[in-house]
Amino acid sequence: MGDTFAGAVSKAPQDIEKSALEHVWIHTTEWVRVAEEGGLHVFERGEGSTLYDIHGNAYLDGISGLWVVNAGHGRKEIGEAMAEQAGKLAYVSSGSYTTVPAVQLANVLADITPGDLNRIFFCSGGSEAVESALKIAKQIQAMRGFPRRYKVIARRGSYHGATFGAMSLTGDRKEEYFGPFMYGVHHVPSPNRYRNDFGLEGEEGDLMCANYIEQEIIAQGPETVAAVIGEPVSTSNGVHIPSPKYWQRLREICDKHGVLLIMDEVINGFGRSGKMFCTEHFGMQPDLMTMAKGLSSGYAPIAAVAVSDKVYDIFKEQKDKSLAHLLTFGGQAVACAAALKNIEILQDENLPQQSAEKGEYVKNKLEALREHPTVGDVRGLGLMCGVELVKNKETKERWGKGSEYLKTLDRILNSKGIVTRVWDIIHVAPPLVISNEELDRIVQMIDESLTEAEAMFQNEIGA
Ligand SMILES: Cc1ncc(COP(=O)(O)O)c(C=O)c1O
Repeated sequence: MGDTFAGAVSKAPQDIEKSALEHVWIHTTEWVRVAEEGGLHVFERGEGSTLYDIHGNAYLDGISGLWVVNAGHGRKEIGEAMAEQAGKLAYVSSGSYTTVPAVQLANVLADITPGDLNRIFFCSGGSEAVESALKIAKQIQAMRGFPRRYKVIARRGSYHGATFGAMSLTGDRKEEYFGPFMYGVHHVPSPNRYRNDFGLEGEEGDLMCANYIEQEIIAQGPETVAAVIGEPVSTSNGVHIPSPKYWQRLREICDKHGVLLIMDEVINGFGRSGKMFCTEHFGMQPDLMTMAKGLSSGYAPIAAVAVSDKVYDIFKEQKDKSLAHLLTFGGQAVACAAALKNIEILQDENLPQQSAEKGEYVKNKLEALREHPTVGDVRGLGLMCGVELVKNKETKERWGKGSEYLKTLDRILNSKGIVTRVWDIIHVAPPLVISNEELDRIVQMIDESLTEAEAMFQNEIGA
């Protein structure tokens, strides 16, 4: 196999699976586990919330790829828009050139993002968006006359991407492989009403996390801090929903100290939280907003940073300067056409509102899972829900990422026909087009899987 082009692109399922094991570097997957224990899935097509593998088996996509496919799988109209654009013009270099779909998309994004986020920098993925936001923030601080403002404050447990700068902001950043990291990153506590770092409850705990950031800025020296970054609702941190006062307080703190506020909407954006952007729940706006994933619902690799007029204006004042940052594929025309059609669908089908309604529906159903001895908490906003798993409900002891219990649960869930992620949280974040009947099936599969896994690990539970 592979001696000829036709051989290399064989359509026989067994050849495809063999080639997948031999040649595809599936990001973060342990090769030995997949090769020896199975669990590899090669998917061939999707429709709405359902994925079909090369054997024709159907799976409910409980996590929209990775919080990506908001408009659902198999949207032919997005494919048609892309084909039409590819037939006309796929790419021009940057410089002072752009394309019609890039202009139209920037216009739409300026329109639907909150406040004066009117300047759109395009790139190809979430990590690039975060990396770009970091560089934009640092350069703007320097152009404003503060070249020593290079530090960035991020929150513990957060995830902002895999490239070097974005990884440096990330909580679990694998010191053993990649340290030392970008200099000047400082991590602070994040809102968490289940295990608050200060032992406080509700809004009081959230506000303490905001005030802690001010203390950190003061301790670092405000004249050295460029930006604070956070997801409006952090998924990697476990979908904890802060009070609007947390973000409003953080806005005040950043303004007071001349620090730029970056909100990372890479997962939260495009209807996932029940509004077009999650920031809208909090009644404030950031200086820079990163977006990716749901921007095209995964039909094309495209991402962006939206920057406020107030921040961008420095480039109008200092006419001889431009951003020292260029990405070849930023604003690629076919990707822009995909994003445009995707946003049209999100709006026409009222998918942010549907996400809000279906999110409430499924959250109420998930509440019943609290009866399980390993379900510590259930949380969610829109179709971004999480079921937190614990070993012991009283002490809230975690199983720990990669523990046998979580791996077993993951396998059982998958064998029942659901694709999701089990960390210390079972994430429930299906495409926004999912039906209530499909949501019921997801909850039922989780319920049954928990019962099976709990029976296998009975001796470790509550111990
Ligand atoms: C909040 C957040 N920011 C950034 C990223 C990085 O995005 P990408 O994987 O597209 O580079 C992710 C990825 O999951 C994310 O969750």
